[in-house]
Amino acid sequence: MSVAAIGQPVSRVDGPDKVRGTARYAADFTLPGLAHAAVVQATIPQGRITALDDSLARSAAGVIAVISHVNAPRLPYRPFQDRPLVDPQSGDQLRVFQADRVLFNGQPIAVVVAETLEQATLAATLLRVTYTPERAITQFDEARDLLKPPPASASKPTDLGWGDADAAFAVQPLRTDSSVRQPNEFHAAMEPHATVAAWDGDRLTLYDKTQWVDNDRDEIAHVFGIPPEHIRVISPFVGGAFGSALRTWPHVTVAALAARVAGRPVKLVLTRRELFSAVGYRPLTVQRVRLGADREGRLAALIQEASAQTSIYEDYSESVVDAPAMLYATANMRSAYRVVPMNVNSPCPMRAPGTATGVLALETAMDELAEAAGVDPIELRLRNYAETDPHKNLPFSSKSLRQCYALGAEAFGWTNRPPKPASRQEGSQLVGYGMATAVYHTNRAAASARATMLADGTALVQSAASDMGPGTYTAMTQVAAETLGLPVAAVRFELGDSELPKAPVHGGSMTMASVGSAVQAACLALRDKCRSLGGNAEGIEGYRALLGRHGLDRLSADGQAAPGDEARRFSMYAFGAVFAELRIDPELGTLRLPRLLGAYAAGRIVNPTIAHSQCIGGMVGGIGMALTEQGMWDPRFGRVMNASLADYLVPVNADVPKLDALFVEEQDPHVNPLGVKGLAEIALVGVAPAILNAVYNATGRRIRELPVTPDKLLL
Ligand code: MOS
Repeated sequence: MSVAAIGQPVSRVDGPDKVRGTARYAADFTLPGLAHAAVVQATIPQGRITALDDSLARSAAGVIAVISHVNAPRLPYRPFQDRPLVDPQSGDQLRVFQADRVLFNGQPIAVVVAETLEQATLAATLLRVTYTPERAITQFDEARDLLKPPPASASKPTDLGWGDADAAFAVQPLRTDSSVRQPNEFHAAMEPHATVAAWDGDRLTLYDKTQWVDNDRDEIAHVFGIPPEHIRVISPFVGGAFGSALRTWPHVTVAALAARVAGRPVKLVLTRRELFSAVGYRPLTVQRVRLGADREGRLAALIQEASAQTSIYEDYSESVVDAPAMLYATANMRSAYRVVPMNVNSPCPMRAPGTATGVLALETAMDELAEAAGVDPIELRLRNYAETDPHKNLPFSSKSLRQCYALGAEAFGWTNRPPKPASRQEGSQLVGYGMATAVYHTNRAAASARATMLADGTALVQSAASDMGPGTYTAMTQVAAETLGLPVAAVRFELGDSELPKAPVHGGSMTMASVGSAVQAACLALRDKCRSLGGNAEGIEGYRALLGRHGLDRLSADGQAAPGDEARRFSMYAFGAVFAELRIDPELGTLRLPRLLGAYAAGRIVNPTIAHSQCIGGMVGGIGMALTEQGMWDPRFGRVMNASLADYLVPVNADVPKLDALFVEEQDPHVNPLGVKGLAEIALVGVAPAILNAVYNATGRRIRELPVTPDKLLL
C-alpha cells in the first residue's frame, strides 16, 4: 500500500493538544513538594557587590533559601573541549553566583526559593544590595573605537573579499554609499523561559524551554561537573523561541542550583521584564554598503562594513557578511564585520541571525542603485543575477530566484508600481511599492531517530528534536507515515527528551533536512525489517498481522542521517522575493501596510499549509523589524527601558495586512535525501528592506534607521 503524506496539507497533529491546553510547556510541569524561585537582578551595569544583606528576605514568610555569591556552592564550570556551536566561540560564559562582579544590568545576583511564587517574589524585593559601581560601556556610539574582529569561522566569516573593491569602486560611473542602523530586537516569544529542576540524589531532571535538549543536558553537566548521563532534559513543547532557546542561559543553572540547595524540586519562570536581560536578543548593528556599477547598473564593486554590539564577557558574532557576498555577481568585493563590547547581556541568534541584517543593508543599497541606474529594481537584480556562487565559487544545488521574482511580481501587480518616488497620492496618502530579495542557507547536521512498529499496527517514531512552533511534530509524522506506508493518524512522533535518539539543534532552519532525513532512514530500516519477516506487510492491518504472526509486541529500527559531501560540491540556499505596498500620510507620519507578499523557492514542500504558516509568521517578524521593534536603553543604567510587551511593540493584528506566501516548485536532488531546504528563517529576510524601499517609493526619502516610526517620517 502506498500512502502519499509528504506534500499533503495535513493539519497539525499537535493542534488538538494545544487547543485543549493539554500540551505541556516547561512551566506547566509540577512535582510533589515543588518550591518556587524568584531571581534578583543587578541594578548597575558594571561594578562590584560590596554588601548583600538577605536577613529580611530570609525571615519572610515561606522562604526556604536565599542563594547569592555569598553562600552559593562553588560550581566547577568545566571548560568544553569543543564549545557548543550555539555558544559564542570566545570569552567566558556568565558564571552564576560565583563572584561579586557585575557585568551588566539585569545579571542574576541572587535567587529566593519559597513555598509559593508570591512569597518568593515578595522576598526577592527584600534583599539589600550595595554596589561599588564602575565606569560602564552603555552607549554603542561612544564605544565604537573599541570595535574588534570577533573570532572568524567558516559559518561566521568576518572578512571576505576578492578583486580590489576599493579601487574598482573609485572608478565606477554609478556609485551609492548608504548606511543603515538597526536597534536591538527581542525574541518576545509568548512562552517565557522557564525551568523546573528536580534532583534525585546526584541525578537531575530538567523540564526546560529549549531548542536543543541534548545540549541543555551537556551544558548543565559541565556547569555542575557531573556526567551528562545523570541529567535528563524534557521539553515536549516550546511556545516560540526564534533563537532565544538555542543556548542554555544562566537561569537554567539558577534553577538547578536552587533545587539542590533547597533540597526540593524548584520551578523558575522568568518574568516578562526579566526576559529582556536574562536571555539574548538581536544585536544593535550599524552597516555601510557601497556599490559601484557601470551605467547599466551592473555591479563592479561591493563594499560592506558592519559593526554590532556584543557583551564584555563573550564575543557573540553572526554571519552578517555571508549572504551579501553570494547574492549578486560582482568582480570585486570586500566586507568587514566587527563587534563592539558593551556592558550588556550577550546577544544571541534571532530568526535569520546575520542574514536578515546583512540583506537589509544590501537590498536597500540595491534599491538606491536601481534609482541611480534608472532601471526597475527587479531588472537591476536580474542584470546582476549570480548564476554560480561568487563567494564559494560553486554551482548552486538549485536556484529558482528568477522564478520567485516573476511569480511574486505577477501576483503582486508589480507593474503598477509608481515609477517615480513620491508620485502617487490617493486621498491624503502617498502610495509606494518596494521589493527585496530573500535568501537563507540550507544546512543540515547529523541526526538519528528510532521507528517502532507496535502490535496494533501503528508506529511510534522518536528523536530528541524540538518543535518551537514550525510543525516538527506534523512534518515528521508525514515523513514517517509515507515511508512506512501508514496513514498519518497511525503514526505518533515523540520529541523533546534527551533520552531519545540524538538530534541536532532546532535552529538554522535545518530540522526538516536533518531530523527528517533521519526519520526517513529509521522508517526505511523498519520497513525492511518488517519485509524480511515476510511479505509486503504495509498498512495498519498488514503490520498488525505481521507482528501477530511472529508473536512480537513491538519491532524497532534506528536510523541515522548525516551530511555527505554536498556542501563541498554545491552552494545551497533557499531564495525568495518579497513585495510590499505602503500608504503613508505625510502630514501625520502614519504608515499603513496594506499588502505584503513573498514568493519562495525552498526545495520540496513537505506540508503546504504549515509552510504557508511558517512564511506568513516569519513575514510578521519582518514587519516588526521594519516598523515597531526596538530595545530602548537608558545609557545611565545600561538597562532596557521598554522591557514589557506594552512598550516593546510587536505587530498586532491591526498592523498586519493581507499576507501571502507563494511557492515555486523546486526539485533539488543534492541538498539532502528529502530534497527539502529550510523554510523558516528566510521568511523574515527581505521584509524590512522591501518595506524601507517602499517608504522611499512613497515619499522619496531614505530612512536609515529602523524601525520606521512616524517621527522619522515627519522629520
Ligand atoms: Mo533560529 S535563530 O536558528 O532559532
